[in-house]
Amino acid sequence: MEADPTHLEQSFAEDVAPAIKGQRVFVTGGNGFLGQYVVAAFRQAGAEVLAPRSSEVDLTDPHQIAQYLMTHRPDAIVHLAAACGGIGANVAEPARFLYENALMGLQLLEQARLAEVDRFVLISTTCAYPQNAPLPLREDTLWDGPPTGATGPYGMAKRLLHEAVATYEHQYGLRGSVLIPANLYGPGDHFDPANSHVVAAMIRRYTEAARDGAPHITNWGTGQPTREFLHVRDAARAIVRATAFQQGSLPVNLGTGVETSIKSLAEMIAHSAGYLGEIRWDTDKPDGQPRRFLDVSRAQDFGFQAEVALADGLAETIGWYLRSFH
Ligand SMILES: NC(=O)c1ccc[n+]([C@@H]2O[C@H](COP(=O)([O-])OP(=O)(O)OC[C@H]3O[C@@H](n4cnc5c(N)ncnc54)[C@H](OP(=O)(O)O)[C@@H]3O)[C@@H](O)[C@H]2O)c1
Repeated sequence: MEADPTHLEQSFAEDVAPAIKGQRVFVTGGNGFLGQYVVAAFRQAGAEVLAPRSSEVDLTDPHQIAQYLMTHRPDAIVHLAAACGGIGANVAEPARFLYENALMGLQLLEQARLAEVDRFVLISTTCAYPQNAPLPLREDTLWDGPPTGATGPYGMAKRLLHEAVATYEHQYGLRGSVLIPANLYGPGDHFDPANSHVVAAMIRRYTEAARDGAPHITNWGTGQPTREFLHVRDAARAIVRATAFQQGSLPVNLGTGVETSIKSLAEMIAHSAGYLGEIRWDTDKPDGQPRRFLDVSRAQDFGFQAEVALADGLAETIGWYLRSFH
């Protein structure tokens, strides 16, 4: 079942509509998890949205990109398409993730400037940050060390594109933005264990355990590591706002600024899923990075502040998941 991404508040449309209305916006990856919400948000702001599937325009093929841009002449490209997934997918296919993400982004930029597109908005990832960057993660520390670990190649491809966006703006005047969302979650997320992220994976496990009356669930690690979670609807609002109002191509974090431990996340999901059994932690298993959260002050320059509280967003997502899959 598809998510319903249309519940955007009226004030949002009124605020950004004057800057967006009538613009033709090409959203790559517009049928993906984040893409559905971004497409809905641009439409609500009055844009004409183009969102072809990869079967219609394969972004690894420059000829298909060129033909599409020449035919449709978008004013702006919002580039969300990516080879991406959870940690397992990054471990399994690091070379493909590096190659396809670098290739799609570079080819799209080159064809965009040839087609005289005005605006290019890149959706990046916190995996582009150095492994040991100081906390909260600030945009000006992005180049202080390499992105490493399983998501390093994916993060490095995105980081190359940060530089490419800035360079194309400098040389060709293609107005760029680089947006770095925290971990996304919400209705319509990927719940398949092969490519799900932490929130969706936990929702699946805890709802199944609640349904089956399981006496306990064992999670990997200590539960102490922290992460930051942004509702996908907030992310979409931020992307439209940045497209409308951001000046300059300095990278911008998109998040809540709220640090949440994996243990708290598990407890919130258990509560909303109606799971009454014991929550156990297998401390022999690795924890991953100890802490991860963002400095979100720069996004205030274009008027973005997250609105969905984590507990509310989780309850909404669990409700959607149960209606869709149980
Ligand atoms: N999900 C998160 O937690 C998160 C967090 C931070 C940043 N991001 C970033 O946000 C963006 C969207 O993520 P998502 O979770 O929404 O991913 P997703 O659901 O997997 O969507 C990715 C989209 O990319 C498209 N795509 C892949 N290869 C393509 C190709 N060769 N040509 C054209 N399109 C292609 C796919 O189109 P088809 O469906 O038509 O094949 C798909 O809809 C990505 O850039 C990701 O790096 C995501």
